[in-house]
Amino acid sequence: MAERNDRRNAYLVALQQSFQSDWEVEDSLAELAELAADAGLHVVESVIQKRSYPDPGTFIGSGKALEIGEMLDEDAVVIFDDELTPAQQGNLSDLMDAPVIDRTQLILDIFAQRARSNEGKIQVELAQLNYLLPRLTGQGKALSRLGGGIGTRGPGETKLETDRRRIRKRISDLRRELEKIRQTRSLQRQSRENRDVPVVALVGYTNAGKSTLLQALTGSEVFVADQLFATLDPTVRRWDLIEGRWVYLTDTVGFIRKLPHTLVAAFQATLEEVVYADLLLHVVDASHPQAREQKEAVEQVLKEIGAAQPVIAVYNKVDLVDHPLDVREPDQAVSAKTGHNLDKLTKAVYEFFAQQYVVREYFFPFSQLGKASILREQAAILGEEFTAEGVAIKAEVDARLEMLLRPFQKQ
Ligand code: GTP
Repeated sequence: MAERNDRRNAYLVALQQSFQSDWEVEDSLAELAELAADAGLHVVESVIQKRSYPDPGTFIGSGKALEIGEMLDEDAVVIFDDELTPAQQGNLSDLMDAPVIDRTQLILDIFAQRARSNEGKIQVELAQLNYLLPRLTGQGKALSRLGGGIGTRGPGETKLETDRRRIRKRISDLRRELEKIRQTRSLQRQSRENRDVPVVALVGYTNAGKSTLLQALTGSEVFVADQLFATLDPTVRRWDLIEGRWVYLTDTVGFIRKLPHTLVAAFQATLEEVVYADLLLHVVDASHPQAREQKEAVEQVLKEIGAAQPVIAVYNKVDLVDHPLDVREPDQAVSAKTGHNLDKLTKAVYEFFAQQYVVREYFFPFSQLGKASILREQAAILGEEFTAEGVAIKAEVDARLEMLLRPFQKQ
């Protein structure tokens, strides 16, 4: 009998195919265990089944499924490390006499617990409904067993019992609502673009420390938790690089290996921030044993969503690392927690944008002081002098401002 506590027991199952190494499967299972714990489950045991290819009906084979079914205590849930087809999920649930979910469903469940904004909540519900829709026909038994939490948070048990037509209607309503929110967001983004202030996006593996870094760099309160996917909604803050020169800093959802494509699409809104950013800060948890693999997984997702901007890698949590890191400029090694090297990182980002700035001297007669305030708002002021006729200002401007204010340039 497994250890009892107030958390629901979970059994993890992975399939090891002939092309997969031991450590690859073990790593993935370890991550699944972290995810399960994050979803509020108590992991009792992990099982690895070796097969040259998945069984089309039962994924791991019916003999193994029955064997695992014998191990289970009442109320346990079985979680598969890979995506199961609706038929496999139904068959496994019948053979094991227990609810069976897969990695995608577990991640969706965590997403449902974490989403905070209206948009985030709609996206999770949409992803869950799209996931559940093909699983509704003929799998009533398997699904009704999922009631009571895991795998069903968000749409809720009652919604699962409604027919496909109602679910389709709900999906189209949610899509429309999401579209409205997106339009507002795109207007907000445009107004940011018109202001000509660069956008820097924090990207990185889940739990790398993005939210902590955003908070440390911008001094603002954002939700930080030692939980995976604490960040599901994009957060945008003002980051002052030097006096008079600032950028928008935006946080994004943490990436993860095997993030299903449906989920990547579902979280497009937060990833849109990545695609529109001028510069990416790729935050890596330097203290994590799989730091390199995590970095590669993020780079892969970035490629998939078409992000092609310059990237500065930020090796975070160096306070937990006792050996020197081989970090090459412009990449940085920092600790968001202790503040170590954050000034260096700020300087590196300033220098990245400074390549695009030029120093100009202007004169604004008193009748044109409005133009001087554009300069004060959008440029770094290096000097300012009032005369009887107006004001002379020396400033560092970007190309666009330089064009706009050319008539006021001193010869
Ligand atoms: P997701 O929302 O899952 O993408 O996570 P995130 O990348 O935003 O990570 P978050 O900022 O929530 O930090 C995750 C955990 O790492 C928290 O417990 C932080 O306190 C911790 N952490 C962040 N930066 C540092 C650091 O520099 N040093 C140490 N020791 N811990 C850190």
